[in-house]
Amino acid sequence: MTTITDILATMDYGPAPEDTGIVTDWLERHSGGFGHYIGGAFTKPGKTFDTINPATGGTLAKVTQGTQSDVDAAVRAARAAQPKWAALSGHERAKYLYALARHVQQHARFLAVLESLDNGKPIRESRDIDVPLVVRHLYHHAGWAELMEDEFPGTAPVGVCGQVIPWNFPLLMLAWKIAPALAAGNTVVLKPAEYTPLTALAFAGIASECGLPKGVLNIVTGDGETGAIITGHKDIDKVAFTGSTEVGRLIRRQTAGSGKSLTLELGGKSPFVVFADADLDAAVEGVVDAIWFNQGQVCCAGARILVAEAVAERFETLLKARMAQLRVGDPLDKSTDIGAIVHPVQLDRIRELMDQGVAEGAKLFQGTAPEGCFYPPTLATGVEPASVLATEEIFGPVVTLTPFRTPADALALANNTRYGLAASIWSENVNLCLDIAARIKAGVIWVNCTNVFDAGAGFGGYRESGFGREGGREGMAAYITPPRQKAKKPETAPAAPEAAPRTDGAAEGIDRTAKLYIGGMQARPDSGYSYSVNGPKGGIGLAGLGNRKDIRNAVEAANKAGAWGKATGHNRAQVLYYLGENLSARAAEFEERLRSFGTGKGKAAEEVETAIRRCFWYAAQADKFDGAVHQTKSAHVTLAMHEPLGVIGIACPLAHPLLGLVSTVLPAIAMGNSVVAIPSQIHPLAATDFYQVLETSDIPDGVINIVTGPRDDLARTLAQHDDVQGMWYFGTAEGCRMVETESAGNLKQTWIEDGAERDWIGTGGQGRIFLQRATQVKNIWVPYGE
Ligand code: NAI
Repeated sequence: MTTITDILATMDYGPAPEDTGIVTDWLERHSGGFGHYIGGAFTKPGKTFDTINPATGGTLAKVTQGTQSDVDAAVRAARAAQPKWAALSGHERAKYLYALARHVQQHARFLAVLESLDNGKPIRESRDIDVPLVVRHLYHHAGWAELMEDEFPGTAPVGVCGQVIPWNFPLLMLAWKIAPALAAGNTVVLKPAEYTPLTALAFAGIASECGLPKGVLNIVTGDGETGAIITGHKDIDKVAFTGSTEVGRLIRRQTAGSGKSLTLELGGKSPFVVFADADLDAAVEGVVDAIWFNQGQVCCAGARILVAEAVAERFETLLKARMAQLRVGDPLDKSTDIGAIVHPVQLDRIRELMDQGVAEGAKLFQGTAPEGCFYPPTLATGVEPASVLATEEIFGPVVTLTPFRTPADALALANNTRYGLAASIWSENVNLCLDIAARIKAGVIWVNCTNVFDAGAGFGGYRESGFGREGGREGMAAYITPPRQKAKKPETAPAAPEAAPRTDGAAEGIDRTAKLYIGGMQARPDSGYSYSVNGPKGGIGLAGLGNRKDIRNAVEAANKAGAWGKATGHNRAQVLYYLGENLSARAAEFEERLRSFGTGKGKAAEEVETAIRRCFWYAAQADKFDGAVHQTKSAHVTLAMHEPLGVIGIACPLAHPLLGLVSTVLPAIAMGNSVVAIPSQIHPLAATDFYQVLETSDIPDGVINIVTGPRDDLARTLAQHDDVQGMWYFGTAEGCRMVETESAGNLKQTWIEDGAERDWIGTGGQGRIFLQRATQVKNIWVPYGE
């Protein structure tokens, strides 16, 4: 028997089991299996599969595998409910979200226990982190519902949303998905992960309890096949997915060209950077929260410790000592630090990756773990930057440790990943922290803290970690749409440009063939060919016939112009004002050029005048479209910074040969991007005339590159290019599909539209939406005080 003296001598914890009675009673009542929640009621169970308690291997419940007809029924219910839900006042919708928040609070203990049983996470976490964050998220979004008309005037909900979520934070991911969707007036069909469907089903019951109108929220359970039926469903307007990058890429291809909007929150391999002057004890505690939180099954887990060489040894010793104290075991024990891995399949995956890592030379230091679906906390050293442990998302309690010499080395190692979800930086020198924070390519940066979340700040990644944000104002933007006019007549593809031999006019001593514009210089096309440009009365000139090679050169030039992104807004504004002045000085020439395409006198003058005004408008915005400081946790500032995407490929609309170029290129460069633009294929000569404006302006070389030629072929090369981070395409429906499909490679952000849809002369051709598309938000968390 343990005596008080023993306890004092060892300072060990005794077991403190959570009572699971109310949950086991509930499961008992549903021993016949769960159906789906569709149209406000549970369906009869269909073909079921078991969901297990990973800590014991025991079956918790039987859950229905969703079929095509189940998904059809759910989508129908959501479609039918959507107009009425959207027609409610924001205040009415807010009341439902408040009610959901309050009822979750009332059932908090039940939900926490159920979550820990189904997922294996420690009750301490589900009780103190997951469920409180769910409540916070629902309250926060009740607020957005209330404020919709004031804060997002003139927008509409997207419609019916298909949402597929993972198993690592089952209820929290549900809240992240449904709260903004419902607040904005959308309805939802959501599929929880097959390993962890139970809290979503319990939540469906809570929705009924709150009297949420039928069909507003529908839950369909099932595996990846059911997920694919939802994400591919023809009557869904928006898909939101959180899960593996592999599946995210599949969904990108599946939804390409369907007109569905898409947000993806995918994997990560986040760096945890410890500088020599960091508070090492605090940083060690940080590692515990970074990688041993939720068994390391966290998309933003700090999985790669990068530590300054000077303190690496001491840090490793401290860390190992701390690892020895971590308690791995029963998730329902309140003193457990690390619970069970979600499923034996996931445990096998971790083991397989670790075996590979060891074969590649990694050395492991491990804590202890009980038999069963558990994995010990693990520190891997001797890990080469290109090895599997340094590059693959392990999604388990495994962290690598790599020493570095200088801050520049740390930065290079931190960014040496295809992901870009999060990073954590530890140093007592705030200047250094903020400098590194600005330069790490990731959507969330924690300074001297880690894994801090709040509904008031956006969460989401750069690069192959996906696109779109969840939380805060940024997150709401993913669930609303500005008013759109359907094109009266969709754009048809222009005929392929016919190659004509170059007529350099050597004999006449003049060069009549317009060239390309790459790296600040006029360049001959690689093909050596031109194509004929026609006006109403036949040929009016020749433009360079650009090809893949020209696009690659242009992308290289654009990447070299990266310093533009670091210039001040004021600096960029000056450059854009001057560009406007130069354009204005040549207004008559441009009018003449537009008229040669058959544009009437008044229209030509209007197009040139509008283009000049847009230079000034985006110059004005260059230092004003800035970020925000979010209200999140106490004693934290959360800085939401707008950052450029990097290189944006732009396929300009066919119509408005000058304005189509100016209206797309300017917002992109005003925000610090560099661009590779493909001007109107049929009338490229306004763009080639524009070279002279560029040459007399102060735009640094490589910031604007222009390649004329077959639009869709050139756009394909841009979409496939891994060094292009964004792709805008205004063209045919077929081209839209192609661009979205080809962009799946590096998961670049896309903006596609029918080229005939936008009113380029009017308000549709200018606005904050262009600036939003040209930026991504980085949230930097900086705690202050003791
Ligand atoms: P997963 O990406 O396959 O599963 C996530 C969700 O997507 C589940 O609801 C699943 O049913 C659904 N799904 C699967 N295939 C689908 C498809 N083709 N279309 C639509 N939905 C589909 O992740 P999985 O297999 O459970 O885990 C594998 C690895 O993925 C993990 O080891 C981890 O590395 C990573 N992962 C990353 C997550 C993150 O949040 N970053 C979350 C879950 C897994």
